[in-house]
Amino acid sequence: MKKNKPITRVGLIGCGRISDIYLKTLSRFEHIEVVSCASLDIGESKAKAQKFNIKKAQTPDELIKDESIDLVLNLTVPKTHFEVSFKAIQAGKHVYSEKPLSTSMKDAQILTDLARNKGVYLGCAPDTFFGNRWQTVRKLIDAGEIGTPTGIFSFVGTHGTERHHPNPDFYYEDGGGPLMDLGPYYLSLMVFLFGSIVQVSGLSNRAFQQRKIENGARNGENIDVHVDTHVQAMLSFESGLIGSMTMSFDVWDSETPRFEIYGTEGVICVSDPDPVHGANIFQGDVWLRKQNNSRWSHQPRPLGRENWEIPDNLHNLSSDNRGVGLVEMVSAIEHNTTHRASDSLAIHTLEAMLGIIKSSNTHKFINLNTKCERPAPLPENFNDILQHGMKK
Ligand SMILES: NC(=O)c1ccc[n+]([C@@H]2O[C@H](COP(=O)([O-])OP(=O)(O)OC[C@H]3O[C@@H](n4cnc5c(N)ncnc54)[C@H](O)[C@@H]3O)[C@@H](O)[C@H]2O)c1
Repeated sequence: MKKNKPITRVGLIGCGRISDIYLKTLSRFEHIEVVSCASLDIGESKAKAQKFNIKKAQTPDELIKDESIDLVLNLTVPKTHFEVSFKAIQAGKHVYSEKPLSTSMKDAQILTDLARNKGVYLGCAPDTFFGNRWQTVRKLIDAGEIGTPTGIFSFVGTHGTERHHPNPDFYYEDGGGPLMDLGPYYLSLMVFLFGSIVQVSGLSNRAFQQRKIENGARNGENIDVHVDTHVQAMLSFESGLIGSMTMSFDVWDSETPRFEIYGTEGVICVSDPDPVHGANIFQGDVWLRKQNNSRWSHQPRPLGRENWEIPDNLHNLSSDNRGVGLVEMVSAIEHNTTHRASDSLAIHTLEAMLGIIKSSNTHKFINLNTKCERPAPLPENFNDILQHGMKK
């Protein structure tokens, strides 16, 4: 095990629903310490600090000015991602943000340019494509198991978030909706598997103008819907592959497969144990059906790594390990390499999503200007890379 690994000091801004999962993941690494947390509500920040043994609860401005902090983890709501990340980068800190990177291409470009000028790293969720099922799919594709991939079908249908999220407002505001909320998971993993998207089109509508919160302190309160909640998109990739993507908050239930990839010599089906979620989680089964075999075969995950010792779920990235993209970014900072959950990936997928919305409004195909190289698959020793900052 490497000795004296430098400690990266993280400041968390946004102490809401998703922060527990991140803090749980990060608490497992000795070389990463969350030293402060902040939100709009100091009471919420103090409670979070107490629950996770975080030394300081500060205001967002205090945290950004705090010189002991190297990296800001931005878990605020989509419409404030830009403002918080901008201030943090301006203050010379690395940033890892929840998705989307921002709600406009102009803002996303400002962030990436600023990060480059300041010499800091900018990373963005999702990191679910680090999960063993997607790494397995990548390995099957790169090994030519389905020949040349020609088509993708993807679907995620839920009935929104107001049944389980106590403050679901942001899901129905600019930067929300099923496309901006769930699209990053699907588009990031498609780029991870197949590379740049060159053209998109879309159609969208919304079933409801208002939603009723059905849990928590605001149970019964109606909120306005400002975005479309049922989106159908078509995607065209530089490789020649084409795909379809349906993202909806207007679906009560569905038996539709979540994700399939069609190739000249076979099919990969990524089924899902969770009927609600699709590709936005780490786990799930991978099935392969080849041209010359009439049966589906269940693929071990991670492929070729069955003999790994897995003391708990973190190492095989099969459970919810949101935050592992930040851990990998810290490793990239240390070794001066490229991180996988990167700003280039985030800006490319953002352009695709905004293109789908534009297409829906204009009824035209939209060509994308940005490109993104496929993030490299995780190395076979990724487990060790993760482990060598791991708490015993
Ligand atoms: N909840 C989930 O299941 C989930 C899953 C994956 C990703 N995400 C993403 O994580 C992000 C946060 O989601 P959440 O569910 O935790 O939201 P939440 O509403 O529960 O919490 C948001 C937090 O951000 C803080 N905040 C808002 N504006 C701020 C500002 N201007 N400055 C400082 N703090 C501010 C709030 O005080 C609160 O602590 C979103 O981008 C969401 O898309 C959420």
